[in-house]
Order: sequence, then C-alpha cells, then structure tokens
Amino acid sequence: MIKNKLIVVTGGAGFIGSHIAWKLSRENDVVIIDNLYTGKRENSPPGARFIQADIRDYRAIAEVISSADYVFHEAAVVSVVESIEKPLFTEEVNVLGTLNILKALMEGSGKLIFASSAAVYGDNPNLPLKESEKPKPTSPYGVTKVSSEHYLRVFHELYGIPTVALRYFNVFGPRQGANQYAGVISIFINRALRNEPLVIFGDGKQTRDFIYVKDVVRANILAAESRRAEGRVFNVARGERTTILELAMKIIEITGANTSIIFDKPRPGDIKHSQADIEEIKRLGFKPEWSIEEGLKKTVEWYRKTGKS
Ligand SMILES: NC(=O)c1ccc[n+]([C@@H]2O[C@H](COP(=O)([O-])OP(=O)(O)OC[C@H]3O[C@@H](n4cnc5c(N)ncnc54)[C@H](O)[C@@H]3O)[C@@H](O)[C@H]2O)c1
Repeated sequence: MIKNKLIVVTGGAGFIGSHIAWKLSRENDVVIIDNLYTGKRENSPPGARFIQADIRDYRAIAEVISSADYVFHEAAVVSVVESIEKPLFTEEVNVLGTLNILKALMEGSGKLIFASSAAVYGDNPNLPLKESEKPKPTSPYGVTKVSSEHYLRVFHELYGIPTVALRYFNVFGPRQGANQYAGVISIFINRALRNEPLVIFGDGKQTRDFIYVKDVVRANILAAESRRAEGRVFNVARGERTTILELAMKIIEITGANTSIIFDKPRPGDIKHSQADIEEIKRLGFKPEWSIEEGLKKTVEWYRKTGKS
C-alpha cells in the first residue's frame, strides 16, 4: 500500500476521485484539485488540502503536480450528452487539462494514473472487449479519452513519464450524482427510495458491466504500485454483463420499494451490450471483490442515510 507520499487527486471532490482521496488520505498527504464543476467540496476527506482550480489553468496546478509522487487524474467533463452539446469545451477540459498535467509532470518525478473510459470502444460487438480492440468512440467524450490515452503513451515513450490509463466501465457507489446525466444505478435508487417507477429505455435486455467504486479504487492503487503497468491501458470492470431489467428488479428488492418498472422508447445512440475482458488487469493481481448485490446494498444504505439525490 502507498504510504507517506504526496498524492494529487484531480476531480477529488467528485464521485470516484473522492473515494480515491479518502482511501489514500489515511497514510499519505493528499491534495485535491477540483473546480467544483460537478463535484462538491464536502465529498473530500477532512485531512486533504483542497485547491479550487481548473485543470485548464496550467499555472494554477503545475507546482503541486510537479512535486507529487502520484497523480490520480479523475477531473473531466464526464457526461456524453454534454460532450455532444459542447465538444470544444469538453476537448479543452479533458484533453488540454490532461496535457497540462503531463507537462507539469515533466518538471517532476510523479506517476500518472488516468481515468479513461469504456467509451473509447464505441459500439463494438466483439464482447468481451479486450484492450487491443481498435478504439472507435461514438461521442466527443470518447474521443477525448482516446486522445488522452495517446498523449499518456507518447509522453511515456518520449520523456519516460510513468503513466497508466484505466478504462472504467460502469462504476457505481455512494456519492455518485443522480442528476440527469448520472449513471443508471443512482437514478434507479433515488427513484426507488421515493417509490417512483423505474423507467427503462427499450426492453431492459441491454447489458452493462457494472463495478463498485471501492474495486475501482483498488485498481487505481494497484496500477500506481505496479511498474509493469506503465505505458499501458487496462480495462476496469467485473467482466460480467448485467441486464438493466435485472438491475431494476434487484434495486426494487433491496430498497423494498413499493413501485413498478415502466418501459419507454429506446434512446437513440444507446449501445446494446457492454462487457470487458479483464484478463490484463487480473495479471497485475486485480480481482473484483464486491459483488453487484453487495455494492448495491452499500449504495442504497448511503442514499438512505444521507438523503442525497
Ligand atoms: N462514473 C463512471 O461510471 C465512469 C466511467 C468511465 C470513466 N469515468 C471517468 O472517471 C472520472 C471521474 O468520474 P466521476 O464519475 O467521478 O465524475 P464526477 O463528475 O463525480 O467527477 C469529476 C470531477 O471533476 C471535476 N472537474 C470537472 N471539470 C474540471 C476542471 N476543468 N478542473 C478541475 N476539476 C474539474 C468536477 O468538479 C468533479 O468533481 C472522469 O474522468 C470520468 O470520465 C467515470
């Protein structure tokens, strides 16, 4: 486990970044960089230093990044829909922001662990998806993740900066936002807790590869610790498919909600199936520890306790 290091978490006031920050802040100095675009300051751990800055602003972030031992780069425009509406803005935050971090790391000796996405694959039917599949994103968001991955590799090859890209599939857990752009799980749980019907777009037979956020944190730490991971990309998922209908039924069961499932028209552009091949990250020693059911129970408990939506 990483100890007594200087850790920077960009996007550390957001969902996944805050879990990384909480885990590492027990035994390290953690600095969070976040402009609170979607994140909330209260998400970050009490002991962490908080720098409210935009990753597009090189001067505001360079010094702390160049002194870091590890940078977990989670800050991004994360919504596919928003990226379609604002491709230039998304490019600036997601690609220029990543380049700023790489440039600052050239002045230091830290390692970069980057939050990429399954969106790089687009609608590829060769399931389970291996990292070697040719990226073919279907949104500006996915394009920014592919370009960032290339920049990581190029800076690794040109300047020897240790970098790892992790392609997260569908991550869920406490602190995930439940706004209009949020993941299906937080939306379903929030509706179920209000006894409102769960709306499925299409027949519910579409599948996703869900992974609980605590397993994603473990994958990040493993990638940070592993020399063999450097210069490479890894899928981060459970490697299983769950249908949206199964998910909705499970959430109704766990919450005990007095509600129903409604089927609406399929959403244009939604992919039918998604599943990762996780052999590569398993070879680094990763094994998902949280079942969907256990992760859902913890997540429901959190939404219940905090009343957040
Ligand atoms: N949640 C998922 O299922 C999932 C799947 C694949 C990839 N990812 C990636 O994981 C990372 C974290 O996503 P999340 O789900 O925690 O989203 P999130 O919106 O909760 O977190 C993103 C954080 O980045 C911050 N941010 C946005 N723009 C910024 C800027 N210009 N400067 C500084 N900070 C900025 C936000 O305020 C927020 O706190 C993202 O890079 C996302 O693309 C997430």
